Amino acid sequence: YPKGNILPKGSDVGTVEKLFSKEQLAKLSLLKSIIKKEKNKNIKESLLLMFSGLLTKTNLTYHSSSVRAEGGGDSAAFRYYRYRIAPRPFELDISKYFQIRFNKVIEAKKEISYYINDNTIENIKNVKGTATDLSWIESESVDYIYTDPPYGKKIPYLDLSIMWNAWLDLEVTKEDYELEAIEGGEHYKNKDDYNKLIAQSIKEMYRVLKYDRWMSFVFAHKDPEFWHLIIDTAERCGFEYIGAVPQKNGQTSFKKRQHPFTVLSGQLIINFKKVKNPRSILKAHLGIDISEIILQTIEGIVAKNEGATLEQINDELIIKGLELGFLDLLKKEYSDITPLLLQHFDYDDETEIFTLKADTKFKTHLDERLRIRYYLISYLRRMEREGRYPHFDDIVLDILPLLKNGMTPENQTILGVLEDIAEHTGEDRWRLKTHGQGELFA
Ligand SMILES: C[S@@+](CC[C@H](N)C(=O)[O-])C[C@H]1O[C@@H](n2cnc3c(N)ncnc32)[C@H](O)[C@@H]1O
Repeated sequence: YPKGNILPKGSDVGTVEKLFSKEQLAKLSLLKSIIKKEKNKNIKESLLLMFSGLLTKTNLTYHSSSVRAEGGGDSAAFRYYRYRIAPRPFELDISKYFQIRFNKVIEAKKEISYYINDNTIENIKNVKGTATDLSWIESESVDYIYTDPPYGKKIPYLDLSIMWNAWLDLEVTKEDYELEAIEGGEHYKNKDDYNKLIAQSIKEMYRVLKYDRWMSFVFAHKDPEFWHLIIDTAERCGFEYIGAVPQKNGQTSFKKRQHPFTVLSGQLIINFKKVKNPRSILKAHLGIDISEIILQTIEGIVAKNEGATLEQINDELIIKGLELGFLDLLKKEYSDITPLLLQHFDYDDETEIFTLKADTKFKTHLDERLRIRYYLISYLRRMEREGRYPHFDDIVLDILPLLKNGMTPENQTILGVLEDIAEHTGEDRWRLKTHGQGELFA
């Protein structure tokens, strides 16, 4: 078994072997030595994959779950992002669990054998390496990129993987640490290191992608500063922003339950396209207090859905900030909107939903025409990006629900504002005027 591998700071014990009881060490060592004897490389590696999963559960940081069946808990590295010894030790029956995993992996292999088999395996290339250097991929050769990058401060992946790397004899080099996009961690990297690595990887993705093809960027954290970096870098590389969509995973994570206001489940996916003449997101000149816009955006989503979760509100804010170019302002002053929300809205602990305060109707002091203008620009920009030019009825249908916390405006008022900022195209279809549309609040 591995000896003397130092664990990251903040761990409850000093070295990897101290994460295991004597019995666990003996059993795991025996099992590993048997697996190592296997001659067939594929079989050996499949067995090591099972062994790796077994490690996750057979150590003193394993926190068993009272609600789920045997094997249903979590290793502390996944749950607490540090090596925390479990208060109640839990001894898993190693041979039984190995057998269960063995059967599961066999089942999984059967299930995917239609797609991945001796004939198709040649078409797959699985590469371990850094996203900052894709020199092994030709320029303009890739059809689609889907990427799920690390968030600066959240999880020190490489530091935490030491237990598995030590047992699986996987070497982690100095260069690996240098290239890991992370802020903080055992190597005390700073935000600048992180930003540079992410920016470099976006450059590489741009280079290898074919023209008129897409890159989707997953992000589970709603820190506007990060989004700003991504958009800025992507646009400077030549990507065109196409749109962002929230994608829910339907689960409430443990972290989220502990800290409902800081950790969000679900994620945003942001789509870019590599085009010959990219248009950048027009920056709206906000001649108005950012707090008004933020409050208005929040009220809009709360009114439209008759209540909204922190997550829905955050998604909407990021997307609006993204599309109207006020992300950098969000970043500076509103990285945490919780105080603002609690001050201006009612919150229900049970449902985790924010609603308009019962006795107030007008929260923002924005003039009705300004509010209409704000939603019209946002909607028409989105439509334009999708290559669509909506009818007046569609426009009204989209923006009315957002305005319903105040007085419902007359269609005539909406039309008046629309005529200011948009022009006809075809029969009763509208698009933003090419000049002056950047002026959100004139
Ligand atoms: C959010 S996680 C991806 C999780 C993955 N999609 C999954 O579902 O398991 C981000 C990953 O990026 C890795 N990473 C950090 N720096 C990297 C780099 N320079 N090149 C490639 N990957 C890197 C981290 O180690 C981490 O595993």
